[in-house]
Amino acid sequence: MILNNKILSVGCVAVALLCASPVNALGHAADVIPAITDISVTKGVFTLPERGATFRIKGADADALASYLSQSVLGVSDAKGGKHADIDINILGRGDAESYTMDITPKGISVKAADEAGAFYAVQTLVQMTSDGRDRVVECCRISDKPRFGYRGLHFDVSRHFRSKEFLKKQIDAMAMMKMNNMHLHLTDGAGWRMEIESYPRLTEFAAWRPERSWQEWRNNGTKYCEQSDPRAQGGFYTKDDLREIVRYAADRHINVIPEIEMPGHSEEVLSAYPELSCSGRPYENADFCVGKEATFKFLEDVLSEVIDVFPSEYIHIGGDEAGKGAWRECPDCKARMERENLENVDQLQSYLIKRMERFINAKGRKIIGWDEILEGGVAPNATVMSWRGTEGGITALKSGHDVIMTPGSYCYIDYSQDAPFKEPVSIGGYTPLSKVYSYEPLEPGLTEADASHLLGVQANLWSEYVTEDSHAEHMYYPRAYAIAEIGWSRPGKNYGDFHRRSLAMNDLMRERGYAVFDLANEYGERKESLDSVSHAGAGAKVIYNLPYHSKYPGGGDTTLTDGLRGGWNNNDGRWQGTLDDVDLTVDLGRVMPVHYIGAAFFHSEGAWIHLPEKVIISVSDDGETFREAGTVWCDVDPAYPKIMVKDYGVAVNTDARYVRLHAVKNPRPGAWLFTDEIIIN
Ligand code: ACM
Ligand code: ZN
Repeated sequence: MILNNKILSVGCVAVALLCASPVNALGHAADVIPAITDISVTKGVFTLPERGATFRIKGADADALASYLSQSVLGVSDAKGGKHADIDINILGRGDAESYTMDITPKGISVKAADEAGAFYAVQTLVQMTSDGRDRVVECCRISDKPRFGYRGLHFDVSRHFRSKEFLKKQIDAMAMMKMNNMHLHLTDGAGWRMEIESYPRLTEFAAWRPERSWQEWRNNGTKYCEQSDPRAQGGFYTKDDLREIVRYAADRHINVIPEIEMPGHSEEVLSAYPELSCSGRPYENADFCVGKEATFKFLEDVLSEVIDVFPSEYIHIGGDEAGKGAWRECPDCKARMERENLENVDQLQSYLIKRMERFINAKGRKIIGWDEILEGGVAPNATVMSWRGTEGGITALKSGHDVIMTPGSYCYIDYSQDAPFKEPVSIGGYTPLSKVYSYEPLEPGLTEADASHLLGVQANLWSEYVTEDSHAEHMYYPRAYAIAEIGWSRPGKNYGDFHRRSLAMNDLMRERGYAVFDLANEYGERKESLDSVSHAGAGAKVIYNLPYHSKYPGGGDTTLTDGLRGGWNNNDGRWQGTLDDVDLTVDLGRVMPVHYIGAAFFHSEGAWIHLPEKVIISVSDDGETFREAGTVWCDVDPAYPKIMVKDYGVAVNTDARYVRLHAVKNPRPGAWLFTDEIIIN
């Protein structure tokens, strides 16, 4: 036990410093995730009696919390009218939403909460403080705690791989412990429809099933669905009763469940079951609903009516991302709609659909959330924007007075690998370790107070194309969800070292509770070669591009390949340079000099369509005109290798030269990218 002999008022930042002490372990206020807003340590300790600990709750809606507490790991029972209660909870019905204070004295614990959620979060704090597995002793202190943002979300892609109701309830328990309050259920996508809809039974008789369990195998076999009765059928769906049970379970833990029904894109599964809703009228041809046909609107309104009936959420997510829109340009129905409605382009046609669905949803007393593509062609008037393609869309939306939830891909997409790819399961690519997630600050400079008032909060997304098993999903969620929880709840002024320490302890607790968390204690981290600069004869040399690099992936521009900095596990880290063509360039060393080694590194990420070059031809010259071949290196890696890797292609030489030409012949797969970094010349 520490810090128990004097009153010490500490805010979040100071807590972080105090917690640098190695004696800390989960079990007191400074160890809690998300970090508590304010802690004043006082004298003494309180021991929760092993047997017969009691609680009393006064105030609105006390019954639900009493029922939760009675079944909680705290092992406490309702003192009812008794004189003394070890934990005395008062729900005041006033104050900042979800806030609470907790006074721990040697005689007992007194909680004052603004609302039932605040009281629930006080209990979660206490659960973490007493969960170190050693004893039920807590240091006396006064806690004052409230969330920074009202929306703290976690996203579940149950389309790409269906997850059971039990899995979702288990994650709801973890979310509750982290004071997260919104579960985003991505219920529909090309890989499978997951909600019982009575008016369209083929959605769950057919579009919820496929012959292959894993998304990758399904994709490789042509993305076909099958009948539920097919012996090969894999997948599933939630009945309305299942969903009501999940919603109730979440609500008991102060978590709102937001259903997402994708439109107009990512809808291959619907259009396979009901091809008349597509532009072509044929299954397996279109991914987007036909916006020209009235049948599409009837379908979406019927579906949303059933969704709204099951989910009490104020927000209904209508997707809106990544529609291809190509078929709309040729479709007579879409063209007629555009003409009738004076729509100038397909972006406005999508906007027509989203606005019309918003009117429908608003009329039912609900609001829409859409991915940031809903800004294109004109945003629906009352829409909340979920910003995923960076934060630009979110900032634009904030500045036009729209509410925003920030979930920028480079920080909040936890389908990216969190550690060195060679030790991680196959992922979609990228590299987003815990430290990167934790470094995210949603309130960017330049936002006014008025803008900031529309920033509802943050969310982490786990797209599950590569995540077949439940245990793999948990590995991806935790500990990175802890970081999002803390960004959403705690005040800025972060100390990653302290958060890392608390995450290790939280991982222990989560493991005890049966979660398959990522082994943070044995994190390998960033690619070692990228951590230090490399000095070599080519460093700082001019690069003449015989073929240009792609404007989307310039890395650091013309100096990228000779700047002495090697790329890491993320091909978007600013050090890798990408092209859809061959790499063909010449390095000018400035003068003729002895050369013994020439090489470069290339990136492989099958999920991101980045492939190693088929071969790299290296040649040298004294005058930049006449080149002699120094060597050719061939690819010896299977292009289908599923993980990210970095491979050096190099040749030993023994010559004098001023110019080094490197011609990397790209993999012939259509659409394959080629990513290069540091050309090393010695
Ligand atoms: C998304 O990642 N397509 C929202
Ligand atoms: Zn159409």
